[in-house]
Order: sequence, then C-alpha cells, then structure tokens
Amino acid sequence: MTSELDGESAPGRGYLLDNARAEAGERFVWLAELFDGVTRGHVDRLGVKAGSRVWEVGAGGPGIPEALAAAVGPTGHVLATDIDPSWLNAGHGYEVRRHDLAADPTPEPGTFDLVHARLVLVHVPDRARALATMAAALRPGGWLLVEDADTALQPLACLDDSGPAQRRANRLREAIRALLAGRGADLRYGRTLPRALRDAGLVDVAASGSFPVGGPACNHLEASTIRHVRAELLAAGLADDAEIDAHLAAIHAGELDLTLAPLISAWGRRPAEHPWSPG
Ligand SMILES: C[S@@+](CC[C@H](N)C(=O)[O-])C[C@H]1O[C@@H](n2cnc3c(N)ncnc32)[C@H](O)[C@@H]1O
Repeated sequence: MTSELDGESAPGRGYLLDNARAEAGERFVWLAELFDGVTRGHVDRLGVKAGSRVWEVGAGGPGIPEALAAAVGPTGHVLATDIDPSWLNAGHGYEVRRHDLAADPTPEPGTFDLVHARLVLVHVPDRARALATMAAALRPGGWLLVEDADTALQPLACLDDSGPAQRRANRLREAIRALLAGRGADLRYGRTLPRALRDAGLVDVAASGSFPVGGPACNHLEASTIRHVRAELLAAGLADDAEIDAHLAAIHAGELDLTLAPLISAWGRRPAEHPWSPG
C-alpha cells in the first residue's frame, strides 16, 4: 500500500494531473465521493431517464459513467470519452472511447440528450472551441451541463487559517495554482460558464456552485493531489521536501479542515428546431 509520505512524479508538460499515475485513480475515487451527488442531482433534474443518450466528456474514473448507464438502462446509450480513458471500465453498460476534446471532432453530432463535462474544460487550451464541440453533439432541445472549479473565487485550502499547519496548507495550495496556471489552466473559468454557454448558442442558461468543507474525502483528495504533483512542486522551487512531508503528516493526523474551490455547475439547452416558421 502506498504511504501518504512517499511517491514521485516526473515534471512534464500538458495536463498537470495526468491519468498515467496511480494517484489519478485515487483522485477519481475522492472526486466521486465529493461531487458525484451534486452531478447526479443536476443530471436527474435535466431529465436523463431510461432510453436517454448521454456523452460524458473527460470522464476520468467510472463513477459518473456507471451512474449514467444505470439511469439510461439498456435502451439508452452512454458514451464515456477521455484523452486517456485507462481508468474507465468498458463493458459496464457504457461505451469507452479515447477522444481529445481539444482536437477531435464531435462524435455522433446532433444526437445526445445530455452532454456533460466536470473539471475538464479548465484544463483545455481553447475552451470556446471545446464548448462548441460539445454543443454540436446535442440534439435540438438537449442539455449541456458543464461543471468547473473556480479556484480564484475561493483560493484557500483551509478557510480557518488558525495555525502554522493551516497556513502551510494554504501556501501549498497557492503553489499548485501556480503550476496549473503555468500549464494554461484558467483559474477563473468557473464564473464565466453561464456567459460561455450563452456564447455557444445555448438558451435557458443557469448555474449554481458548491464546495465541501472538511472531512475524510477532502483529506484523501489533498494527499493524492500533493503526491501527484510533488516532483513538479520541487522542480519549480515552489516547495521543499520538509514542507511537503509536514503537510502530508498534518493531513494524515486529521489536523486540517481542508476545503476545495467552488464547483460551478452551469447548464443550457440547444434551442429546439420548429418544423414551422411563425409568420
Ligand atoms: C480533473 S479530471 C476530472 C475527471 C472527472 N470528469 C471527474 O470530475 O471526476 C480531468 C479529466 O479530464 C481529462 N482531460 C484533460 N484534457 C482532456 C482533453 N483535451 N480531452 C479529453 N479529456 C481531457 C483528463 O484525462 C482527466 O480524466
């Protein structure tokens, strides 16, 4: 079993938290624990049901594709794509395909009742083009649901900045934001989603935000994230080994009430095409 105090990561380019490392799989487990309930609430409200067709973009782990497959049943269709789909389980009621949202064309254009992406667009260089690729997959009247963090809206790891361990956690969170920004992530993207969805031609646009405060899932996610980016933090001179080890030990001891950036969930509908023209 991997200790929270070990793990190496190789500095590189592109998506910072790439799926090739074991920590990515751990992160998907804890992201699911923290946010799948929020996502499933939106998916249900937007009318996904038996027979629906859904495209899950940048799916990461199996949590949401499996929930969608259960919702649409054998008469529906769930397509789960990712630039690296290795954490997805083909044969569990959903189809798995490798798809780069930044470069590949829309699969099955004009056919999906719902297209969903969570914590993906923030990492994609041309976000407007990526949104257009997803919107083009919707049938008339179909919904696009995009969920992304706004790490600049709430930048702290510990809201209760009560001691040195909490302040160290906040410094390290700032360091990770610097790494993400260096890879082209837009740390203020969440707040722009309603406007971006309107710009993509969608109607009935609205959004909401949520974030957890403290608890074991936040601790596990933080430890996995820190171990994932440890080598990057060291290589960039943004932290040293002693600081990272002390932070991991404080997480392990349950001393921190760790929190996350707000997840902004925004939705909009492709206008329905009318078979008649008024007047
Ligand atoms: C932070 S994870 C989120 C995973 C999952 N959607 C969730 O919320 O748990 C980001 C995911 O987006 C994927 N991704 C990053 N860039 C992508 C791209 N250009 N096209 C498709 N997927 C991409 C990553 O491989 C990773 O699985």
